[in-house]
Amino acid sequence: MNHNENYDYDLAILGGGPGGYVAAIHAGQSGLRTILFESENVGGTCLNRGCIPTKALLHSGEVLESIRNAGRFGITIGEPGFDLGKLYAYKDKTVKTLRSGVTGLLRYHGIEVVKAKGIISGIHTIDYTIADKNKQITAKYLIIATGSEPTIPPIPGLKESGAWTSNELLESNRPLPESITIIGGGVIGVECATILHDFGVQVRIVEMLPQLLPGMDSGIAELLKKELMKRGIEIFTDTTVMDISKSGDKKICSIQTGEKAMELVSDEIFVAIGRKPRTAGVGLDAVGVETEKGAVIVNVHQQTNQPNVYAVGDCTGGWMLAHAASAQGILAVDHIVGNPNYTRIDTIPACIYTRPEIASVGMTAVEAGKQGYSVREGYFPMKANSKAVITGETAGFIKIITDKKTGAVLGGHIIGPRATDIIAELTLAIASELTIEEISSTVHPHPTFSESIMEAAHDTFGHAVHTISK
Ligand code: NAI
Repeated sequence: MNHNENYDYDLAILGGGPGGYVAAIHAGQSGLRTILFESENVGGTCLNRGCIPTKALLHSGEVLESIRNAGRFGITIGEPGFDLGKLYAYKDKTVKTLRSGVTGLLRYHGIEVVKAKGIISGIHTIDYTIADKNKQITAKYLIIATGSEPTIPPIPGLKESGAWTSNELLESNRPLPESITIIGGGVIGVECATILHDFGVQVRIVEMLPQLLPGMDSGIAELLKKELMKRGIEIFTDTTVMDISKSGDKKICSIQTGEKAMELVSDEIFVAIGRKPRTAGVGLDAVGVETEKGAVIVNVHQQTNQPNVYAVGDCTGGWMLAHAASAQGILAVDHIVGNPNYTRIDTIPACIYTRPEIASVGMTAVEAGKQGYSVREGYFPMKANSKAVITGETAGFIKIITDKKTGAVLGGHIIGPRATDIIAELTLAIASELTIEEISSTVHPHPTFSESIMEAAHDTFGHAVHTISK
């Protein structure tokens, strides 16, 4: 790309999360003179306060659980314990290692990283303050990648209760409470319930809608609920939180399920009812960038109504997922430099790191039916998968949703071991417009979790080998 000498930079990016930093690296690779504004640490919510530290804690919990279950594999070992300080140190080290990797990559690609909040003051200008000095740069193109923040619902007494969000859970200097009530049974609610319960906290989840993980395949949501309850997590679905009050050191959460009112007493309250785009104070009004309910409106190229201004990731609403943000960042840069980009941004897998893991891509059977498809479903239970029997992780199943007329794969829904890894095959199938016959005729290695995808494909035609096809 020819540099335009009228501007200090070709590209200025606001926000260094997986949307912004990936866009910056790709811009550097594409020859753009790029400046990245990040007021905190590069890596954003995902690396510093979200995906990575929570998955580190989930991994520690999984190790603890494996040791607890070691007896069934013939291993004798005493009752395991844990050291909260060391546990958090491991989490922090993991974050630090990955963050220094990202910092190094940005440096290698010649990106100028400014530790300051950038504010759009004109269609090509960004204002910022560093060491009490007000500064300004100009750039031909802008990418807004300012992310999202937790939503706090207007429940009476909630604010005063000092409720936790995932941010407080991840702060090393907070001791874990003995008991906690989690408001919201979505992704953060069920993942944080898993972490807290693994480390001995008594956990309750209160979900407003009739199922955990609304929007997810209902069979998956039901099985997760059963598995969490089996471990001793209390779950209230179809339940409204009326208010929160305090009694001494305890927090009282008044709930209503149908006609029945109850009080749940716990040491802490945890809110996980969703996140909202962080677009206030970014300067969007100054340049007339259009938003809807706080989310920046973009077209298929991630371009806003101002042609030189792009937006990627959580600040655009929709999929609030790190990998979606990164794909959008690359898409935006490719559009700026005029490179073709065929990323199937409409096919985004979603992963939930509970035990069992959950992963899903494309449509559920209900959604496909609503869209007028003649739906066919292939099913395979994990208890019939030899690798799952070996590892003792037999709770789960795979469902593949196909169009009966064409055999096109429309959706894949997995609950079970390594669901978050093996979903990639079904994502590729949908993005590449493969048919169920093509999955069915592909030889999968044995014994692996992945062969249950082949078996679910076989089941579509009524001839799964290791289960009775119905
Ligand atoms: P969410 O949208 O996944 O779930 C929020 C839940 O709270 C819903 O089930 C909703 O029905 C419920 N709810 C709303 N108001 C309520 C109320 N007053 N009382 C009780 N329940 C109520 O939002 P969540 O879990 O906060 O996650 C935020 C974002 O972060 C999501 O977009 C998610 O995709 C992303 N995320 C992704 C992860 C992953 O990919 N593994 C991990 C963590 C977060």
